[in-house]
Amino acid sequence: MTTAPAIATPHGTIAIRSENLCRHYRMGDTLIRAVDGVSLHVGGGEFVALLGSSGSGKSSVLNLIAGLDRPTSGSVVVQDRDLAKLSREELAKYRLHVVGMVFQSFNLISSMTLAENVELPLLFAEVDRTQRQTMAREALDRVGLRARMNHRPSELSGGEQQRAALARALINRPKLLLADEPTGNLDSHTGTEIMNMVREFNRDLGMTVVMVTHERTLAERYAQRLIFLADGKVIDDRLNAAAGGQEDQP
Ligand SMILES: Nc1ncnc2c1ncn2[C@@H]1O[C@H](COP(=O)(O)OP(=O)(O)OP(=O)(O)O)[C@@H](O)[C@H]1O
Ligand SMILES: [Mg+2]
Repeated sequence: MTTAPAIATPHGTIAIRSENLCRHYRMGDTLIRAVDGVSLHVGGGEFVALLGSSGSGKSSVLNLIAGLDRPTSGSVVVQDRDLAKLSREELAKYRLHVVGMVFQSFNLISSMTLAENVELPLLFAEVDRTQRQTMAREALDRVGLRARMNHRPSELSGGEQQRAALARALINRPKLLLADEPTGNLDSHTGTEIMNMVREFNRDLGMTVVMVTHERTLAERYAQRLIFLADGKVIDDRLNAAAGGQEDQP
């Protein structure tokens, strides 16, 4: 078991604390240790990158933090909620109110307009229609897509779809933004644009960000801290003094 390093956090609070977190899969006779004893602390308002090669367990860790999956053993506590102890309903509420998630494949619903896609989390939260529309417009404004709100995802570029996915993740004003390879399908110009937005949310809204990526240069430019995974374990966890202070040019 590894112990998490003591870290100074901008807001003095711990947003995420995992202790010896494990997610093992049994496939016939073999046991796949996707996550194998991960202990880490992420401070409120931190911008952390989760790095590692393919299959190292990055998405598995993110899904556990998001409450989309449950640990085999160990614990993960987010904003003082021990996720393993939450009922299905409580977990659904947690996902709705605390977490914003961006997936590598945008996961937008093709039959719905951008505005409808972005409103979706609010629909589940039973927010009334007028308020949903106002908040969707605001969220789309933030990512520069208000003019496209009545378009369907197929009418947009990859970068625009990812911005819409970002708007959807933000609509509940989550405390925690979890992003799995948010720039994975994008060219470097568009990827930089997305990263500048994520950094703006981190700074201006005080949102804690955990971003999975295998692009080390991107992580070094944006994240305050770099956590490296290999074979389901944390192999390095260090502050990144090099994270840029200025707006990067796309
Ligand atoms: N549902 C599952 N059943 C069995 N094995 C799984 C399952 N999900 C993930 N794994 C295995 O767990 C390991 C970690 O997978 P994970 O998706 O977390 O990796 P990753 O670091 O996100 O990789 P990538 O960079 O390719 O997205 C891999 O060996 C994968 O095959
Ligand atoms: Mg992955």
